[in-house]
Amino acid sequence: MADEDELDRLLDKLTLRAKVRLLTGATTWRTAAEPDLELGELVLSDGPAGVRGESWDERRTSVLLPSASALAATWDEQLVGELGGLLASEARRKGVDVVLAPNLNLHRTPLAGRHFECFSEDPLLAGRIGAALIRGIQAHGVAATAKHFVANDAETDRLTVDARIDERTLREVHLAPFEAAVAAGVRLVMAGYNRVNNTTMTAHALLTTPLKSEWGFDGVVVSDWGAVRSTRDTARAGLDLQMPGPADEWGERLVRAVASGEVEEAAVDDKVRRLLRLAAWAGALGRPRRRVRPHLPPRQARALARRAVAAGAVLLANRGVLPLDRTRLNTVAVIGAAAARTRTQGGGSAGVFPQDEVSLLDGIRAGLRGRARVVHLPGPAPDGPPPPLDPVTGSDPRTSTPGVLLRVLDADGTELYAEHRNSGRQLEPPLPPGAHTVEISARLHPFGRLSLHLDGDPLLEGEFAPTTDDPAVLHVSPPTHTVTARLTAGRTPLLVARRELAAGTGRATVVGVQPPGPGRAQALAAAARAAREADAAVVVVGTGEQHEAEGRDRTHLTLGPGQDALVRAVARANPRTVAVVNSGGPVELPWRDDVGALLLAWFPGQEAGGGLADVLLGRTEPGGRLPTTWPARLADAPVTRTRPDAGRLPYDEGIHVGHRGWLRARRTPAYWFGHGLGYTTWAYDALSGPAHTTVGEDVTVRVRLRNTGPRPGREVVQVYLSRPGTGSVDRPERWLAGWTAVRAQPGETAVAQVRIPARALSHWDVHRGGWRTEPGPYRVLAGRSAGELPLTLCFLAREEA
Ligand code: BGC
Repeated sequence: MADEDELDRLLDKLTLRAKVRLLTGATTWRTAAEPDLELGELVLSDGPAGVRGESWDERRTSVLLPSASALAATWDEQLVGELGGLLASEARRKGVDVVLAPNLNLHRTPLAGRHFECFSEDPLLAGRIGAALIRGIQAHGVAATAKHFVANDAETDRLTVDARIDERTLREVHLAPFEAAVAAGVRLVMAGYNRVNNTTMTAHALLTTPLKSEWGFDGVVVSDWGAVRSTRDTARAGLDLQMPGPADEWGERLVRAVASGEVEEAAVDDKVRRLLRLAAWAGALGRPRRRVRPHLPPRQARALARRAVAAGAVLLANRGVLPLDRTRLNTVAVIGAAAARTRTQGGGSAGVFPQDEVSLLDGIRAGLRGRARVVHLPGPAPDGPPPPLDPVTGSDPRTSTPGVLLRVLDADGTELYAEHRNSGRQLEPPLPPGAHTVEISARLHPFGRLSLHLDGDPLLEGEFAPTTDDPAVLHVSPPTHTVTARLTAGRTPLLVARRELAAGTGRATVVGVQPPGPGRAQALAAAARAAREADAAVVVVGTGEQHEAEGRDRTHLTLGPGQDALVRAVARANPRTVAVVNSGGPVELPWRDDVGALLLAWFPGQEAGGGLADVLLGRTEPGGRLPTTWPARLADAPVTRTRPDAGRLPYDEGIHVGHRGWLRARRTPAYWFGHGLGYTTWAYDALSGPAHTTVGEDVTVRVRLRNTGPRPGREVVQVYLSRPGTGSVDRPERWLAGWTAVRAQPGETAVAQVRIPARALSHWDVHRGGWRTEPGPYRVLAGRSAGELPLTLCFLAREEA
């Protein structure tokens, strides 16, 4: 690795133009190389659920992990670090140097479209889990990226929205996870699309202070894709690298801005030095690049991904139904469309084509093979657009091979390119010169027992104007149009979908089919019958493709009348019903008190079925604890607004984010932040700690607890602080200050030693522009969630003598 003097020597070799050339990407995913410096390209690729690599191609698959919300639900930095290692291994396999993860924005409102991609509502949990992932990725020489700096917590008007946040809230809440990331040594920080207090983030003073000055960040600030919209302001601010390229906001314009004195050359030098430092760290500078091999063999990677599913699954309620006893089961009814087509990831730029997807149904079947009969009923057809064509639903009309035929045509309809593909979702079709239209065609396979009919007439024709100019949204989730047609059993009608490549409409073309189901009443009756005849029922419900995706926020949290009715019907038919919720963030569960058990699966990644079956069948206990407070109804949530008013989105809740806001509003959620059950029970016996501390020092407290249940278990012991009496500053009613997990055998006692960092006692003093701890009494509360804290003690923080 080059030292700083060496970086300066390299910098001296470059002309201004050569330096500036390095500061804009060479392609969508690569930085520019400079042979004179023996500087290679750096390849960047999205995370955090998997590393896609440079192309959106269904044949280049990736290991898909559970969503970030599920990773935070583990409250397990060791495991998250291992998963970071898995991402690094995937990055190596795909020739990637920089993973664009983690996403450290917060669960400010449950409606946020990228909720699933963020860790938590709590800055401490998001910061610690994020730092663990960063360390895990970077331990293998692959760089991580903390994004999106800062306050990019919702999607509505995300390219322009102006988040209005007071200084103290920024420091204590929204910047805090980024500060933790920098302390963990993160190599890149991504500046978001949004504005904060009237300045767009790629030109914001926060990139310098606190990021580079106070926190000492010596890595690269990269723009979110397409977020650079000016030359001078972004170049003067702390932004170092414009992505993607080619782009011309910097380039020649920046050369001219330096020549005219608008931007100092020293600013350009600092950016290039940072880029060279990153390249040196990543092994892309000064010697022929050695290809580092992935360190995790595929089997081990899959086993780890499966372990993560169980570790993040949150058991919200259990009325003696779980775990299912395999020795006592003859028949299990597995119900719901999401059981057979488990949704493994949220939508947007973080999406990958998974290696394989084990549905919950397949997982349960494998777990019960040779022991019990598994009956599956899909229930009412899910709402929303149909899933893309795949080798099961279509075949290539030319070769009859399962899949689709992709063709690219010129303006006269002449074929320029054709190939066989596996998916009706084509995000980056090859575009030879003259490309005008993308065509996807397939012979539809008849759908099992259904009688279908198609007459060959055109189904849909017209102009489809894009509904947004957000390039990322157009790329991954183009606007959808649906049409219903009748097919005839036994025939394989030819479906041809064409889309003209009009300017500004992106490249993605997606074609899917959804077989008709029986009517809702009939589907519910069949599901209830199957549940009644079974020893236990597992009913799976969740959000569809149209919900929980980058680029748009949700407008409601309901699962829809069909799915709610399905759970109710199944639960009525069989008291031994487990409801499994397949979503990346909160949804309303109006039937939650009527089911035997309620398990939150999140978007579990490719090993969904195996990991969830491990939990349901008791091979492992559910390890998850809520990283975000779960509302009973959207209307109860303290922050629901995502739509800016005249471009502005006020963060009026200030420091009272998440459970802090619920406590302040004196509202009770369905489930508190931190809540989650294992398969044993615990008694919290005693809390001990010092009676006095000195301001500026960490405090350690001890919690003694006992495993009072029948099984060995792991318990996440959480410690919160409050400030009794009247301090001179507004504080949350209580706030998370630390946690640690313990394990114990039945009957055994364990002691959790929880460190409360000095920072947890302090607040950001806007007058002095620094952290300050008020001397005086602090109360420690210990327990298993923000709403269940049976043990307390007080200590006095004293000024240094
Ligand atoms: C997203 C980023 C992502 C980038 C590259 C943007 O639209 O906001 O999270 O890293 O695209 O795909």
